[in-house]
Amino acid sequence: MTSRETGSVQISRAEATEPLLVVDNLSTHFPTERGVVRAVDGVSLSIKRGESLGIVGESGSGKTVLSRSIMGLLPAAAIRSGSVRFAGTEILDLPAKRMRHLWGAEMAMVFQNPLNSLNPLMKIGKQITEPLKLHLNMNRSHAKATAVRLLKDVHIPEAEQRLNQYPHELSGGMRQRVMIAIALACGPTVLFADEPTTALDVTVQSQILDVINEQRTDRNMSVILVTHDLGVVAGHTDHVAVMYGGKLVERAPTRTLFANMKMPYTKSLMRSIPKLDNPSHTRLATIPGRPPDLVNPPDGCRFAPRCAYAQDRCHDEEPPLAVADDPDHYYACWYPVGSPEFEARDAELRAAGDPRVDAGATI
Ligand SMILES: Nc1ncnc2c1ncn2[C@@H]1O[C@H](COP(=O)(O)OP(=O)(O)OP(=O)(O)O)[C@@H](O)[C@H]1O
Ligand SMILES: [Mg+2]
Repeated sequence: MTSRETGSVQISRAEATEPLLVVDNLSTHFPTERGVVRAVDGVSLSIKRGESLGIVGESGSGKTVLSRSIMGLLPAAAIRSGSVRFAGTEILDLPAKRMRHLWGAEMAMVFQNPLNSLNPLMKIGKQITEPLKLHLNMNRSHAKATAVRLLKDVHIPEAEQRLNQYPHELSGGMRQRVMIAIALACGPTVLFADEPTTALDVTVQSQILDVINEQRTDRNMSVILVTHDLGVVAGHTDHVAVMYGGKLVERAPTRTLFANMKMPYTKSLMRSIPKLDNPSHTRLATIPGRPPDLVNPPDGCRFAPRCAYAQDRCHDEEPPLAVADDPDHYYACWYPVGSPEFEARDAELRAAGDPRVDAGATI
């Protein structure tokens, strides 16, 4: 075991005994005029060094708040509880001053919209070299050489010339690559990528995800990929965590999840993946009904009011996370896919031609 000093935070590399990042029973609540918004409610997950985890869920399910809660990047009014251990050290209660030493150097984030995140008035080169000079004390020429290498790492052609360009001179895909280069600049061990591709077209999306994966392997870095699209996690992550209404409702190795998903909610997300053989402009299936009110969430399972398979118990009692056949597969559902109750209801719904059941879905 080795250890090193990151600012005033002692990071012990106890990875043989504990995954790099361990989140336990993490909750984040926002007091508002309407009441307390329970944006993240008792989430537990972990990620090993070099692994990638996809966090999926509908809009408003708490994906961004969860990522920001782990990183400690929240408005001052937010109330967090639980535990976040990073490389063996509890970081939940570290003051922002000490967390600042972790941001960039240990944990970095790529945001959804690169135009909003890049400074439109500053040349690309300066935006990459500033953090290198500030955090790694590099001199000008070292920082410049490093910036060129970083741009090459993310496959930006003519890297040297790009340093003198402004963000508006680059395409959306190139700007997102620059954001990734900035996030990688200080050599983080965990990269959070929050919807890094939603504003981009499908081909560019896939190239950006490939760049992130390539860097994950080269740097033995962990990646947390946040997306509302289960299709995005399919080819680019080792594990998936599914969120609904601030809770983690299913978690599994990616292959296991796609072969054997248990939650009707996960199944519904699956239906909203665009299929390549769909004619263009086909409307994607969306899940009928509205996400839960996080100030007054429903009793029982939060998805029950929208679930075609819900029975009385689902409305009354909250299902705990249960373990499936694969010991790394957890789900929170009383009547999971494959159970006799689910199958009986599924047959009824199909016979009635219920639109919530996708006759062609292969799960
Ligand atoms: N500062 C805040 N104050 C009050 N409520 C908040 C705050 N930030 C987020 N929320 C609420 O927390 C919930 C989760 O939001 P979050 O942004 O994490 O969703 P998301 O899953 O990332 O959605 P999207 O896919 O649209 O990005 C939402 O109901 C949101 O309105
Ligand atoms: Mg979000």
